[in-house]
Parts: sequence; structure tokens; C-alpha cells
Amino acid sequence: MSTIKIIIGSTRPGRFASTFAKWLTTIAKEFEAANPGGPRFELVDLADQKLPLLDEAVPANMNKYEHDHTKRWSKVVGEADGFVFVTQEYNHGYSASLKNAIDYLFYEWNNKPVAFASYGGAAGGARAVEQLREVSGEVKLFDIREAVIVPNYWTQFDASGAFNATDDQAKAAGAMFQALSFWTDEMKASRARLAAKA
Ligand SMILES: Cc1cc2nc3c(=O)[nH]c(=O)nc-3n(C[C@H](O)[C@H](O)[C@H](O)COP(=O)(O)O)c2cc1C
Repeated sequence: MSTIKIIIGSTRPGRFASTFAKWLTTIAKEFEAANPGGPRFELVDLADQKLPLLDEAVPANMNKYEHDHTKRWSKVVGEADGFVFVTQEYNHGYSASLKNAIDYLFYEWNNKPVAFASYGGAAGGARAVEQLREVSGEVKLFDIREAVIVPNYWTQFDASGAFNATDDQAKAAGAMFQALSFWTDEMKASRARLAAKA
């Protein structure tokens, strides 16, 4: 059984990220229930990982981790077969916390698919996602076109303060999980073939 980890990129107190990721996980769990035998989804909060700014002396592709926080993060990512990066937009880019978390590792990301769910102001985090696509390729993540983009998310709070996604956003999330799940299973099989050849 494959595992897809939904990684929350914002670590800021009071962040919208946790509300958004909770909604996304609800859709993921509905998708999971409708697709028995398909990948399982897990939420990973970068805030819980407590990663300092990269403090490993040796680059990740040398595979010599010194610190416990790196070894813990390596296990979290290594056990996954696919990812969703949940990203906000800060100054037309994605967060330093997410970049830092990516930079800590190398092999754990390799030959796995990644999809993106973003939010923000008018552009809905789309500029941050474009930057992430560029960086993902360097750690051999394979990016999925289908994405969720939520512009001006604060216009979608109801009177009680709850976030209400639109039908189109829910549909986009379903299409993203569909494509990501397919490639997660395909690439898991491909990685097994690569490992057998090595
Ligand atoms: C430092 C900073 C820069 C921001 N720059 C942008 C931006 O370039 N584009 C945008 O759409 N929103 C921008 N915003 C607004 C964020 O999208 C909004 O604060 C969002 O809630 C951040 O995600 P978070 O709450 O999960 O941390 C910025 C916010 C901060 C704190």
C-alpha cells in the first residue's frame, strides 16, 4: 500500500495553513474511502518537525546525517511514496521553512511524485507553486500538473469563521488526488525496478 504525505509548509503562529490542510485532508480521506487499495494519506506538519536552519555539515546527497532532527525528518519523508506540498505565498515565493525542509534531504525525495495546494492573495499562491516546481526537479521529485489554488481565501470564511471551499476547489482537489495517486503507485513500481537493477 502506498502512502502520500500532505506536508504543511507554513510554520507561522496563527497560520491559515492548518485550516486549509484540514480541509484538504478531508477531501483526501473521502478519495481514500472511494478508492480502496489506493494510496493512504497522512498529514505532516513542518511545525512539529522543529527543523533548525540547515545545520548538517555534509550535503544530503552524501547520506551522512549527524543530527537526530535530520534522521527523524529523513524517516518521515523516506516512508512516503508521494507528496502534496501545501504552500502559502510570501513575497511572491514559497516559505523559507519549506525550502529548508526540502534542502535537508535528497534520496528520500527521489523518483516520487509531488502535487501542490496553494492559497494566498489574488494569485492564490500560484507564483510560489511555480518556484516549487523548479526546485522539486533538482531533488528528483516529479511534479503533477493538477493543483488546488485558492485566491483571497479570507473571502471564503462564513459568519462562524469556518473556511468554506467552493465546489470547483473541491473538484480540483479530487482531480489532483486522482492524478497523484496514479503516479504514486506507478512510481513506486518504477523505484522497485530501479532498485532491482542497481
Ligand atoms: C511576509 C509575508 C509576505 C506575503 N506576501 C504575499 C504575496 O506575495 N502574495 C500573496 O498572495 N500573499 C502574501 N502574503 C499574505 C499571505 O498569503 C497570507 O498571510 C497567508 O495567510 C500566509 O499563509 P499562512 O497564514 O499559512 O502562514 C504575505 C504574508 C506575509 C506574512
